[in-house]
Formats: sequence, C-alpha cells, structure tokens
Amino acid sequence: MPDLLQGEPPSVLEFPTLEKGSEDFNMQAGGINFGTAAGCWNHARHLERFPNVSFSAVCDLNFDLAQQRIENKKNGGEFSHKWEGCKAFRTHRDMLNSDDRPDAVIIGTPPATRGALQIPGGPVELDMAEAGIHMFMEKPVSVRPVDEVAELSARLDDYHQKNGVITGVGYMLRYSAGVDMAKKLLAKVGAQPIAVLGRMSIGYSFLQTPFWWDKERSGGPIVEQATHFVDLMRYLCGELVPDSVQAKAIGPNMMLSDMPAAPLAEHTIPMEKRVNRATTAQFVFESGCIGSLFHSACLEGARFSAELDIQADGVHIVIGNPYHMPFLKMRSSRREDYEEVEINKQGEAMYDAAFGTFLQAIREKDPKILRSSFADALKTYEATRWIADASQPTPQSAWNAPAPWVTRAQPSWTNAAAEVIQEAKEQQPEQVDIQTVLPTPAAPQPTTVPPTMPYTPGQPAWQPQAPPLILPQQRAASSSAHSTSEDTNEQ
Ligand SMILES: NC(=O)c1ccc[n+]([C@@H]2O[C@H](COP(=O)([O-])OP(=O)(O)OC[C@H]3O[C@@H](n4cnc5c(N)ncnc54)[C@H](O)[C@@H]3O)[C@@H](O)[C@H]2O)c1
Repeated sequence: MPDLLQGEPPSVLEFPTLEKGSEDFNMQAGGINFGTAAGCWNHARHLERFPNVSFSAVCDLNFDLAQQRIENKKNGGEFSHKWEGCKAFRTHRDMLNSDDRPDAVIIGTPPATRGALQIPGGPVELDMAEAGIHMFMEKPVSVRPVDEVAELSARLDDYHQKNGVITGVGYMLRYSAGVDMAKKLLAKVGAQPIAVLGRMSIGYSFLQTPFWWDKERSGGPIVEQATHFVDLMRYLCGELVPDSVQAKAIGPNMMLSDMPAAPLAEHTIPMEKRVNRATTAQFVFESGCIGSLFHSACLEGARFSAELDIQADGVHIVIGNPYHMPFLKMRSSRREDYEEVEINKQGEAMYDAAFGTFLQAIREKDPKILRSSFADALKTYEATRWIADASQPTPQSAWNAPAPWVTRAQPSWTNAAAEVIQEAKEQQPEQVDIQTVLPTPAAPQPTTVPPTMPYTPGQPAWQPQAPPLILPQQRAASSSAHSTSEDTNEQ
C-alpha cells in the first residue's frame, strides 16, 4: 500500500480497493462537484476514477440541476456505470429519510448553509454524523461565530468517538506537490521558517459564483479564498498570534471601469455587502516567524495568480502556480542561483491525493492520516476571521476622490502598449537628431593638416606640422627688420 505522506501523490489506481459498503458518495450539483469555468474543480471527475467508488445521490436545492448532472453522467463517459443507481434529492434530509443513504458525502454547498449548530433545513454535519456518514466538506468550514463552530467541532469529535465518523476538509493545497516538497525539505534540513508570504489573486471576471461576491454568504475573500494560503502558512509555520494581526483593504467602492465583463453577481449585491477588492495583512506566528498575506480580486486576463514564498535559515523556497502546473524553486546558502526542484507538475494530482487519503482514512478508521480535519480547519477559519476583522477598507478619501479611473475614458491597455512601442520606434537612434541626445561635443580644435599632403614613401602619411625651425641669428635679423617699420609706426 502506498504511503500517502511520502513522496509524490500516488496514481489514483494505486489506492487500495475499499471494502464493500464504503463506496457510495453523495454530493451537491454545484461547481465544486461538477466543474466550473473558473477553475480545475470537479470532484465527481476525480472521485469516479477510484476503484469501488460509485454515486448514490446528488442532493441540491436546485433539483433540476441535480437531475441534469446525473443524466449527463449516466449518458456518457468511461465511468457512466458508476452513476446508474444515482438519484436526485432536494435536501439532505430527504435523502437521509430515503433508503439511499451513502457511505460518505462531499458537502460542497456555500459556506453560509453549513458549519452551524442550528440552521433552517437542519445542520448538515450533525445530521450526517448522527447517521454515521463520513464527510468531506468544503472550505471554509463555516461563516458563523467561531465559538459556535468550535462547539460543532467538539460535537463532531464526540460522534467520531461514538460511531467512528470521519470528517475531512477540502484544503487541497496541503496535498499539492510543491507544498509537500517544501514541508519535507524544511523538516529534513531542520530549518525553521523565518518569514513567509502568501499571495493569491483571482481574475475579476472569471469568478461568476453569485454567493462569492456577497460577504455575508461567503465570509469575504479572506475567509472564503485566501483561506487556502492562511491554511498553508499554518501548515508550514504553525499558529498565528491573534494580537499581532494587522491588515488593510481596498473596498468595493473603488469602481473598476477598465475590466471586461464585470461579474453580474457583484452588481446585484448592495454595496455594504460586497467583498473587498484587495487586502494585505501581516502577522507573527507563535514560532516567531513573520507572515504576510496578499489577496486581490481584480486580476485581469487570468483566473489565478498564486505563490507562496518561504524564507528560512539558509534557504529561500518559492512555490508557484499550485493549481495548474506547480513549480518549486529553491536557493540555498552558497548557491549562486535558484534551482528548480523536480516535483509532479500535474496540479490536479492534489485532488486525487486528498480524496485518496480520505478514502484510506475511512477504510483504516484512522482520521490522523488526513492533512486537514474539521478541528484543524477550525483554526484556519479562526485565523482568517482575525485577518478579515482587521482589514477594514481604507476610506475612499484616502486613496482618491474622485477616483481617476472612474472619471477617465476607458483606456485600452493593448492600445496603450502599442502606442508606447510606436513612440519608442519613432525615437530610434538613426532617426534622432544626435545633437539633441548626446552631450555637446568640445569645440573642434583647429587642424594643422593641409587639405592635401604630399606622400613620401617610407614616411607616415601625415605628421602634425612642426613649427618651422628659426635659428637665433635669423630671429635677430628678422626682428630688427620688423622693428624698423613697426617701431616707427608705434611711435
Ligand atoms: N477546495 C477548493 O479548492 C474549492 C474551490 C472552489 C470552491 N470551493 C468551495 O466549495 C463550496 C461551493 O462552491 P461552488 O463554487 O461549488 O458553489 P456553487 O454555487 O457553484 O454550488 C453550490 C450548490 O449548492 C446548492 N445549494 C445551496 N444551498 C444548498 C442547501 N442548503 N442544500 C443543498 N444544496 C444547496 C446550490 O444550488 C448549488 O448548486 C464553497 O464553500 C467554496 O468555497 C472549494
């Protein structure tokens, strides 16, 4: 059996076959489970590749969508047979009241619909735990007050003691090849991180999920999205000191006039509920390490740009592009340059590793092998709350009033770049009046070279003309001849 915590995430086909009875999954019909244009998420596609995993229910308030998802899966693809018995339900309680109880569920509803002790429709985690159904739930674990989520976490622990129910959380980046390698390298050398920087930017027009733009439903961009990088910092550097957290943000009232296709969702939400455009934060870890977090939701022309930068005694590690094609660059003491460390370049492998570990934890009844449990994800949630609470937007007057980008005509950056290039071409050296760009040359020295010089073989073609040799007696004769006339004139 492969050791999931050693080496690169194994191929999914290497995972152990699950015992019969531990194979049916339930999930919601939304983007995280069936794919979105915004990213690489599609839990159904990853899970169906595992031996002995099949699907018994899709449970979504959007019942039509749930049915459509099931039909699509039944009607095509290599794994259509795994969806044959799958049924649609409107609520999780409808499903629990039926005979179609799965062994495990992916809870991928928006965070405001879960992570609670009491909620309309019933607390999904407690209902599942009571039914003995294992859960893999999406991040963030909640948007409720931290005390309430802590109580929920304690209750889930009790259920685990009582009926063995296992809860994993979708902090997938803990399983990514770059993060995995960085953690092992630091442990191997025994290096303590000194400073860490997490940066996550998302494309303004790519994120079309309506709830995301409403901070009451998503928790805001730090709680909902930058949470991955806070979680990674905790994973690599330990716990944050709450009182050390400082943050600044630019609020949604900074109007973006130069982005195509603004997310419709943003403009349907009242200004006071909209998410911040950009946030920076800094904090200290209990270890003494210092950390910075940067998040923005105004990237243009790309879905994501994300990076984790770790500096430890004698080493600088940069993990880039973790979702799509991860890389890890490392520069260690006494090296001139960065070296790229060989890692698995398939960003999506982290999903296979996360689900494979979850399935293995169920099979072996061992939640300790999970890299993210509910209890641990609670700490990430709490840390993101500290940052979000500290990041009150800068008043508009402080950054500009009125903002120039609101009042100006919308520029085209492509045209602007073309104009800059054209201006540079027009000023190429051969077309430039050299006198205007070079320092004024020294005044030319009068030359003593005659227009034509007789050339004598064996002699240099030209020598500076020496003054004529005048002997003293010639000079005296010459001077007396001059004095006769000139002296007379002067007198
Ligand atoms: N781990 C990751 O990398 C990652 C990536 C993207 C999203 N997510 C998380 O996944 C979750 C869902 O995101 P999404 O983009 O799929 O959202 P989505 O809006 O596309 O899908 C959510 C689905 O849940 C359904 N739903 C809402 N309330 C429900 C309820 N009470 N009962 C049943 N169904 C309900 C909706 O009808 C919708 O189909 C979020 O918490 C998000 O943070 C995680």
